[in-house]
Amino acid sequence: MKILITGGAGFIGSNFIHYWMKKYSQDEIVNLDKLTYAGNLSNLRIVENLPNYHFIKGDITDKKLLEKLFKKENFDLIVHFAAESHVDRSITDPDIFLKTNILGTHNLLCMALKNRTRFHHVSTDEVFGSLKKNDPAFNEKTPYDPRSPYSASKAASDHLVRAYFHTYELPITISNCSNNYGPFHFPEKLFPLFITNLLENKKIPLYGDGEAVRDWLYVEDHCRAIDTIIKKGKIGETYCIGGNSEKSNKEVTYKILALLDKNEKMIEFVKDRPGHDQRYAIDFSKIKNELGWEPSVSFEDGIKKTIDWFSTNKAWWKSIKNGKYKEYYDKQYANH
Ligand code: NAD
Ligand code: DAU
Repeated sequence: MKILITGGAGFIGSNFIHYWMKKYSQDEIVNLDKLTYAGNLSNLRIVENLPNYHFIKGDITDKKLLEKLFKKENFDLIVHFAAESHVDRSITDPDIFLKTNILGTHNLLCMALKNRTRFHHVSTDEVFGSLKKNDPAFNEKTPYDPRSPYSASKAASDHLVRAYFHTYELPITISNCSNNYGPFHFPEKLFPLFITNLLENKKIPLYGDGEAVRDWLYVEDHCRAIDTIIKKGKIGETYCIGGNSEKSNKEVTYKILALLDKNEKMIEFVKDRPGHDQRYAIDFSKIKNELGWEPSVSFEDGIKKTIDWFSTNKAWWKSIKNGKYKEYYDKQYANH
């Protein structure tokens, strides 16, 4: 099978490439990635010299490039990860989110349609909005209610993918997943930011009162869920993927502090994220009952594995944090 993976140099995309090439070593993978600030080819050192792995630096909003690529290659499957993914950046600079997440996805759908290529769209639970404390968890029937430019752009992309199924019978599936954590996580997000700051003995900026809740899933479990949907999912369907690990940001923070032998003095309570979604939770019974997937890594184990990874791969995150990232960090946290 020949697979086009978009955004394969990012956090989840690179984990997915490692996962797939280990499990299906006969398949051929083409990784198309623009290498934005979040794309990092050093995530792919282990596979970069394999004869069945190819990297193309390119932008999914570049129609000409896509046309050339699809003329040359005949893909059996597209797994679409490429996106602008950070909520805070979408608040300060939304334009690129609309361009990449909406127009970029649309360009890929056009290409897929020409060739009737099977298309899996990797999306997020954020499209469903924000839950109150006792609300039932999101499921596939929850109405869309995105509240940040990021989630609105992902919601738009989901609608387009579904429209291509209903209108043109393009063979698609969609997954809406909760918060991932694990190796190669870009240190702008809560988990890697807090772990790496603490490893550098720097304070950690907790938004608002720290009571916002997220559901956490170890990234390899997400990769396995996408694999399950590709192999066993029903065309045209959406699957919600969750970690069964609802935690407040404060709980996560205290856990990380304890594992790194630090105390709460390292926490700096800072101004809240505008429009901060207070709670996400996922009911993943559809993928569990119909396809037999459920998370396999507990939060306890996942967090230890993740801290281990960041502790032994300091060169990876230090080279990111020393570069342009510093400018972003100083600006992002200046007014907090
Ligand atoms: P990431 O920001 O780490 O990586 C995104 C990758 O996409 C980068 O390699 C970047 O260079 C590439 N990219 C960005 N714009 C591009 C463009 N115009 N053309 C080609 N490549 C481009 O993101 P991530 O956390 O790995 O998320 C991957 C996907 O999973 C996204 O679609 C995101 O919405 C979704 N998702 C993420 C999470 C999470 O917790 N991180 C949870 C659910 C769903
Ligand atoms: O739910 C899935 C989504 O999870 C994905 O679609 C997004 O791509 C991904 O970035 C993630 O979004 P969040 O906004 O939930 O993740 P983030 O790590 O940015 O924030 C997690 C929680 O931690 C959130 O409640 C905000 C809080 N936070 C975050 C940062 C960066 C802080 O308190 N301080 C921080 O410095």
